[in-house]
Amino acid sequence: MQKNKSIVLGITGGIAAYKAAELVRLLVKANIDVQVAMTEAACQFITPVTMQALSGKPVFKGMWDASIANGMPHIELSRAADAIVIAPASADFIAKLVHGRADDLLSTLCLARDCPLLVAPAMNKQMWDNPATQRNIAQLNTDGITMLGPDSGEQACGEIGLGRMLEPEDLFNLIQAHFQPKVLAGKKMLVTAGATLEMIDPVRAITNLSSGKMGYAIAQAAFEMGADVTLVSGASTLKPPLGVKLISATSADLMYFSVMQNIAAQDIFISVAAVADYSPVETSSQKIKKSKSSLTIELKPNKDILAEVASLPNPPFCVGFAAETENLLEYAEAKRKSKKLPLIVANLMRDSMGQDENSVTLLDDKGTHTLPRLPKQSVAELLLQHIAGMI
Ligand code: CTP
Repeated sequence: MQKNKSIVLGITGGIAAYKAAELVRLLVKANIDVQVAMTEAACQFITPVTMQALSGKPVFKGMWDASIANGMPHIELSRAADAIVIAPASADFIAKLVHGRADDLLSTLCLARDCPLLVAPAMNKQMWDNPATQRNIAQLNTDGITMLGPDSGEQACGEIGLGRMLEPEDLFNLIQAHFQPKVLAGKKMLVTAGATLEMIDPVRAITNLSSGKMGYAIAQAAFEMGADVTLVSGASTLKPPLGVKLISATSADLMYFSVMQNIAAQDIFISVAAVADYSPVETSSQKIKKSKSSLTIELKPNKDILAEVASLPNPPFCVGFAAETENLLEYAEAKRKSKKLPLIVANLMRDSMGQDENSVTLLDDKGTHTLPRLPKQSVAELLLQHIAGMI
């Protein structure tokens, strides 16, 4: 998706500079052209040789670099870029940006740019909390500069708090999000994902093999396309996407309650969760002990969350998923009709369950649209573009 995008990655002096190496690797792998520019202080933390090897290009460090054709690196480098990303951005560099200083190549590049600037702060928590830094961040926000983080957690100095740089993968996702057309801007979307756990006793449950990957990919892609996303997640070991509001709801009952509590405000509801159709009539408060006789667990039906949402007086645009083992299109269309859905996504269990890729067919009033087998993130993007077209 991001072919032909070109960014200047500016690295300033801070211990998080080592993470910039992984960020370059992720960007290059996604076919993004990366030109690295480092400050003198950054070169104390990580060598330009590493960055050159990863980006496949010589690194620019100084204003007076003879290898730049017309001797105007600040113009030449920023002219070619779709964005400048500063990661890590030290407190000092942020202060420089606020004042429009241009006393080295990177600050001059930022001042001379005519493309968006994305800044990933990285500093000790006291430096971050300092009123001077907070004033500077507020000014950058006013100037239309995009802040990527910072994150909270353990810092290189041993303290715990806000100020550490986001992980490379998070930065990569946010950079991609920046380039994504905002076709869902202004839309509120609720997505359910993952498996539910129906407890039999405190240590045993009825569940299924859903990993949550498809639902999480949809939540992330929707955020990247500008939607305000709430993710109601059942059991899943996945890290929630940045920028998405997460509500944890492990059982079908809890998921029903969480969805219903939040549904009134939504424009779109995508039900990806593998919700258990039944749960035990009784959950034992103590671990059930083994005996020689057989054990029968009586089950009661759970509410069909998607069907209930779709039959609300003023429902959001409802999208279902049908994961089948046979008769895929026939069963999926029957579910679409019975649950009164404008759109359902059909996939075979063997093509999707737990995997990183998926093969899906979209079914709506106009017929069937089969997508090629793709990574779940790309399936999510194509599905959301289809939805954006329908609404
Ligand atoms: N669904 C739901 N609540 C349930 C069961 C299913 O919201 N209690 C939603 C799923 O998230 C999915 C769609 O309904 O979007 C279809 O789910 P699926 O399990 O394939 O179908 P069921 O209606 O449960 O039918 P069956 O299990 O017989 O295939």
